[in-house]
Amino acid sequence: MKHSVPRIHAEHLPALLRAMPKAELHMHIEGSLEPELIFALAERNGVQLPYADVEALRAAYAFTDLQSFLDIYYAGASVLLHEQDFYDMARAYLNRAVADNVVHTEIFFDPQTHTARGVGMETVINGLYRACRDAEIEQGISASLILSFLRHLSEEEALQTLEDALPLRDRFIGVGLDSSEVGNPPEKFARVFGRCRELGLHLVAHAGEEGPPAYIWGALDVLHVERIDHGVQAEKDPVLMQRLVDEQIPLTVCPLSNLKLCVVDSLAAHNLPQLLKAGLKVTVNSDDPAYFGGYVNENYLQLFEATGMGAQEAYQLARNSLEASFVAAAQKEQWIALLDETFAQFARRTGDV
Ligand code: ADE
Ligand code: ZN
Repeated sequence: MKHSVPRIHAEHLPALLRAMPKAELHMHIEGSLEPELIFALAERNGVQLPYADVEALRAAYAFTDLQSFLDIYYAGASVLLHEQDFYDMARAYLNRAVADNVVHTEIFFDPQTHTARGVGMETVINGLYRACRDAEIEQGISASLILSFLRHLSEEEALQTLEDALPLRDRFIGVGLDSSEVGNPPEKFARVFGRCRELGLHLVAHAGEEGPPAYIWGALDVLHVERIDHGVQAEKDPVLMQRLVDEQIPLTVCPLSNLKLCVVDSLAAHNLPQLLKAGLKVTVNSDDPAYFGGYVNENYLQLFEATGMGAQEAYQLARNSLEASFVAAAQKEQWIALLDETFAQFARRTGDV
């Protein structure tokens, strides 16, 4: 049932989008490395970068598709060597998330990007985990980690990565699947996801970012994922759309990412409003905020500006994000009550009721 949302004047919408409590469910921590931090870490660790300075690196952020981005993204991550580097990167992101009124975040990390360079699994996970715990204590944000397998690598490598991470099993809540989508269908990872399922880990996968609806079917039916990351190509398949509505499978959509990777021609042409209207459980996320021009609030602001969505949609998207998270039901209820209170207060304060 549709929740009744107080009327809010359009001029107050940006402040409302910023203020509403929200969860972020699709953000790659390596994609939060700002050029300034990349250069600072390169200097600290004596790593040579193929860019003269911050401006030259930023100038290279002109992507034509997913692969053109991934090439630069993996190069940027090469500055991460020590536990403190992973800690500093995650604290920088968590500071941004707190500023955006993110109450809960589920952070992807790509261990294979680091272990392939000789960085230990425990270095990666312990640095990220310590940052999450410190931010929780000092800033009140809830944060957990999702280990992502790189789909351009083999399933054997994913299985080995899982084995390497299992001694730290209590430090991540689930697994995901990312990197080059087309040509690497979900079926390639059936065994490793089966094993993760037996272990009781939460399961998500990127599907239908650039790849066809068949990859979303595969993620659901072969990998048994609980959420689809991106999923915007679902609109090409009406039967799939109905399934996503019936089962209320969350989609973690990333508008600025889709724009910068040329999945859509403009934000005005993004299909998120249509997906939401069709009854899909859509959420808004930043994906790789340092590369795509904005953290989660910037995604909401630019999308709403371009599409003309209003307070009702804002409420639904924030509520979806909280409901689609992997926290306990009682915690979700608390945050939804806070969301309701924020909307009520906002309407009172801005004289809209
Ligand atoms: N890794 C980081 N960002 C990604 C994206 N948008 N798609 C696939 N893999 C990624
Ligand atoms: Zn992603």
